[in-house]
Formats: sequence, C-alpha cells, structure tokens
Amino acid sequence: MVRYLTGFQPTGPLHIGNYFGALRPAIELQEKGEAFYFIADYHALNTIHEPGVLREYIRGVAIDSLACGLDPAKACFFRQSDVPAVTELTWILSNVTPMGLLERSHAYKDKLAHGIAPSHGLFAYPVLMAADILLYESDVVPVGKDQKQHLEMTRDIAIKFNELYGEVFKLPEPSIREEVSTILGLDGQKMSKSYGNTIELFLPEKALRKKIMGIVTDSTPVEAPKDPANSAIVALYRLFATPEAVASMENDFRTGGIGYGEFKNRLFEIIRDSFASMRKRRVELEASASFVDGVLAEGAARARETAEKTMTRVRRAIGIST
Ligand code: TRP
Repeated sequence: MVRYLTGFQPTGPLHIGNYFGALRPAIELQEKGEAFYFIADYHALNTIHEPGVLREYIRGVAIDSLACGLDPAKACFFRQSDVPAVTELTWILSNVTPMGLLERSHAYKDKLAHGIAPSHGLFAYPVLMAADILLYESDVVPVGKDQKQHLEMTRDIAIKFNELYGEVFKLPEPSIREEVSTILGLDGQKMSKSYGNTIELFLPEKALRKKIMGIVTDSTPVEAPKDPANSAIVALYRLFATPEAVASMENDFRTGGIGYGEFKNRLFEIIRDSFASMRKRRVELEASASFVDGVLAEGAARARETAEKTMTRVRRAIGIST
C-alpha cells in the first residue's frame, strides 16, 4: 500500500487557491492508498506569533478539511505538534544537513525578499519538513510546485544520513502537481495570502458576495463586447461550472450587453451553490468541538505509534540508545 503524506499550514481561512491547489487533490488521494495528513503547526510558528491567532487557524484547518471531505476513517489526520518526536528528528537531521544546502533554498530567499525577518526557524524549515516526511516513512509526497526543492532537500538529507548510519530512511518520491491552471485572485494575479487577493470559501454569504464584487475589471461599458480570455471572472468560473456554462459565459462576454456585475453575480451563485453542503457540514463541525478533538486525538495516537518505530531505529543507528 502506498503511503501518501502531506501537511497543511494553518495560516488563515481556507481560500479557493488552497482548496483546488492542495486540499482537494489530497482528499482524492485518500481513496488510493494510506494517507497521513497533518496540520503543520510547528511550521506556522515561522510567521504566526500570536497564540490566539494560531489556535484559531489550527482549529480552522481541522474543520475546513473535514468539512471538505477529508475522511478520518480513510486518512490518519493529526496535528504535527501532537508528535513531538518530529522535533527530535529535526535536531538529529540538522547535524547531517550541510549549511550550503539550506543556503540554496528558494523559499527562504523569497520569504526574506517579502520582508519576513530571518529567524533560525525559517532557515531550518526544510529540515523540519524532511523530518515530517522521513518520520512516517512516506512513499509519495503530493505537493505543489513551490515545494519541489524542499522535497529534493529531504531526499538529499536522507541519502546523507543513510550513507553515514546505514539504510534507515526510505527515500520518498515527490509527486509535484503541475498546476493545470494558476488560480487567479481578485486582482488577476495568482491567488495567494501574501498578495492579499484571496477569496475565502466559507465567508458568510453576504461577505462572499462582496468579495466577488471586488474582482478587478477594466472599464469596458456594459454594451461593449468583452474579452473572456483575460478575465479573472471567467477563469474562476471555470473551476466550478460545467463546460457548457463556461462556453455560455464566454459567449455572453463576446456578444456584449451584459456588465461585469452580472458575471460576478453568476460566479458568486455558483461558488455559493457548489459549497453549500460543505458549508452546512462546517457549521455542524463548529458546533461539535469534541468530535473534532476526538478525530485529531485518534490520528495523533496512530501517528505517534508509527513515529516511535522510526525513532527507535534512528536512535539506535546514531548511538543515542543501544
Ligand atoms: N511546506 C508545506 C507547505 O507550505 C507544508 C508542509 C510541512 C509539508 N511539512 C510537510 C508538505 C511535509 C508535505 C510534506 O505547503
């Protein structure tokens, strides 16, 4: 059985980009093998320093994932910090990780360029990620393109460790999702929290409508024909609508006589309707804290068991235990 592992960072409410880019593909894979999915709360400490906010985001990822169909009967779903062995392994791996490897990290340089203060945690991020992957003997790690280098680093670290101490770690295979299309945000750039252009899926209806009405458009008048190829509205609509509905919107763009407001309204309605059942489920989950806690506790127990097996071998291999 193939073991899939991936982590979701609790950095804010679920938006359309997260959903189509990471959550939905992971949920699809839970049918195909043994899935280990976790909330990467230790990683989030890189950027979130307010305890109340972190707590809320962690809870949010748990509820969003379950509401969208992550099935705890199929996937082992847990919080990274519920298995503290991952930090022990991070330290151990740190000692076989060359500085040069980390210094070449694109993500690190990118974050500094975005004004994030360079901390040791930010620099060591890829080592913690390697520990996540190696601790659970993952076969395949499904991630987006932006994580490709992190997976290469994980393999490099594992190879280095195995050369020194014997074949302890299984080498994970990356599975890099070639994004079929970039998911566009409100301003027509790639949707990303750092660009402030996200559309959160579970906003209250009124707020969701308001967000969508805020999609940036040009000043083509209502009567004039419009170009569907350059429209974030059409690009987003395509994620939800049938090919026929998309063709019909494109056609209405080209014909003219319909304003952007009307197209935004169609987009709003289809987003609202597509997520209606998940939204309902989310409300139920919000009211059942003990169910959510139970899921995470069960996941943690299972994850710890798997982790402990690996750690016994690791400690023995390095000479910390006999
Ligand atoms: N770095 C990943 C991201 O930002 C999250 C993550 C943490 C992860 N640990 C992981 C993904 C281990 C895959 C495997 O999306």
